[in-house]
Amino acid sequence: MTKLRSKLVVGNWKMHGRLAANAALLQGVARGAQALPAGVQVGVCVPFPYLAQAQALLGGSRVAWGAQDVSAHEQGAYTGEIAAGMIVDFEAAYAIVGHSERRAYHAESSEVVAQKALRALTAGLTPIVCVGETLAQRESGETARVVGAQLDAVLAALSEQEAARIVVAYEPVWAIGTGKSATSEQAQEVHAFLRARLAAKGAAVANVPLLYGGSVKPENAAELFRQEDIDGGLIGGASLKEGDFLAICTAAAAGESVAG
Ligand code: 13P
Repeated sequence: MTKLRSKLVVGNWKMHGRLAANAALLQGVARGAQALPAGVQVGVCVPFPYLAQAQALLGGSRVAWGAQDVSAHEQGAYTGEIAAGMIVDFEAAYAIVGHSERRAYHAESSEVVAQKALRALTAGLTPIVCVGETLAQRESGETARVVGAQLDAVLAALSEQEAARIVVAYEPVWAIGTGKSATSEQAQEVHAFLRARLAAKGAAVANVPLLYGGSVKPENAAELFRQEDIDGGLIGGASLKEGDFLAICTAAAAGESVAG
């Protein structure tokens, strides 16, 4: 059966923003998103202190909001950690888990990422599970092994029904913040591999949205989003610029894919 897969574009602000500047950006994105076709969903993942601001300014708009991480624990003596339930208190939809910056700078293992994904799901959040290889791993032919293991660790911790509710983002580490995006062929190849891995978990999991992230810009977004297994993007730097982010969302509208 053929069905139309809608597109999802999510901004990851990383550690950027201040109250005053955020307000203009959030309001601008909410306004601009009104013009997008129904087949495009939009979200922004903001730093934790700005979840309340996102809720206030995006509530009732086409734009959902979320966090960039979540604790692997439900609650307790974990100083500085943020529980999934706290994020839900601000009506957030998403929590990014396993971003390569957290894997690299905070030593997060795939097992910890899996626990975070489970916590997010249990609280009612959609985890955006990030996977991706380094340049050295790509050059030594290890891409499939690395991203496969990262995804499998998460799938192993979830039931088929739970796994059907995640979003996966392929973000090659060498393409993040470098201005050097993967080519659409390179990205599609990995996405097709990840799609097969998801499908092996169960039929309900095969159509999980697969986002590409890594130097997505207005200039390369349409070509990436046209690929069969690329269901949208996770956007870093360009999500901080209203015009660029909206242009990427518009490119997603043009690339709505037909899935088998
Ligand atoms: P850039 O779009 O800045 O390369 O960042 C991608 C990313 O890491 C999104 O999570």
